[in-house]
Amino acid sequence: MSAPIEVWWIPLDADGAVLERKSKLLDVSEKERAARFVHEHHARRFVCARAGLREILAARTGVLPGDLRFENGPHGKPRLAGPCLFFNLSHSGDLAAAAISESSEVGIDVEEVRESPDVESIAERFFLPGEVTWMRQPGCGVESRRRFFALWTAKEAVMKATGLGFHLSLSGIPLVGSEEGLVHIDRTAAGPEVAPLSLVRLPVPRAGWEGHLAMTRDGTGEVVFRTSAAKPT
Ligand SMILES: CC(C)(COP(=O)(O)OP(=O)(O)OC[C@H]1O[C@@H](n2cnc3c(N)ncnc32)[C@H](O)[C@@H]1OP(=O)(O)O)[C@@H](O)C(=O)NCCC(=O)NCCS
Repeated sequence: MSAPIEVWWIPLDADGAVLERKSKLLDVSEKERAARFVHEHHARRFVCARAGLREILAARTGVLPGDLRFENGPHGKPRLAGPCLFFNLSHSGDLAAAAISESSEVGIDVEEVRESPDVESIAERFFLPGEVTWMRQPGCGVESRRRFFALWTAKEAVMKATGLGFHLSLSGIPLVGSEEGLVHIDRTAAGPEVAPLSLVRLPVPRAGWEGHLAMTRDGTGEVVFRTSAAKPT
């Protein structure tokens, strides 16, 4: 039986000496990218996410966090150069999530359920008619908004699992919603890149967030959830 897929929550609010220690774990290109952020809090979140990911991957591979090397897949999906371990990272606000797997491609997406987006017009433009119908909850704006972000994060997680990014159209990720408010891939309508994937809704450790994990195995395998330490080990 394959090892469980791990989902790690990474807090992105370190500062002071902890942040300084974390920034030392990054490679040159990551440090350059961190330096390009205009706002200090965006740079801090980026450093915390990348350092947190390095610490988690280091514990699994036995390679020191600062010695891990990354490369990009054909459409920009980061992967490890060397050890065969699948991972994917997502951040929103001051929370990141990383999925790690030995045996399955993974894609993960978390989003803060914000007030601002015009969910109706975005949904009508980008979602399939059946998805829009499922999203609309009469008299219940809060649940409609949550369902919008459920569909959004599920599609994004699928995009990220395939590594195809925008090369996969949103209509190419057909979803069906259940009465309980969960979404699944419509395998009868999905193409060959999407049909083998399974979705798991993430138990995001904060109210008002939505997130999904997409993986290439059949979804019967175990997924375990962990929280990353605030300080580097
Ligand atoms: C990277 C991408 C796949 C997701 O971006 P995002 O949701 O803004 O950001 P997330 O925080 O969830 O993910 C970013 C991480 O994904 C990873 N990533 C980058 N390219 C990727 C790809 N092609 N496939 C999978 N993962 C990718 C990186 O680790 C990145 O982390 P970094 O910013 O530290 O480099 C983006 O390029 C994209 O294609 N977004 C689609 C947006 C969209 O229209 N969504 C509609 C959903 S309904």
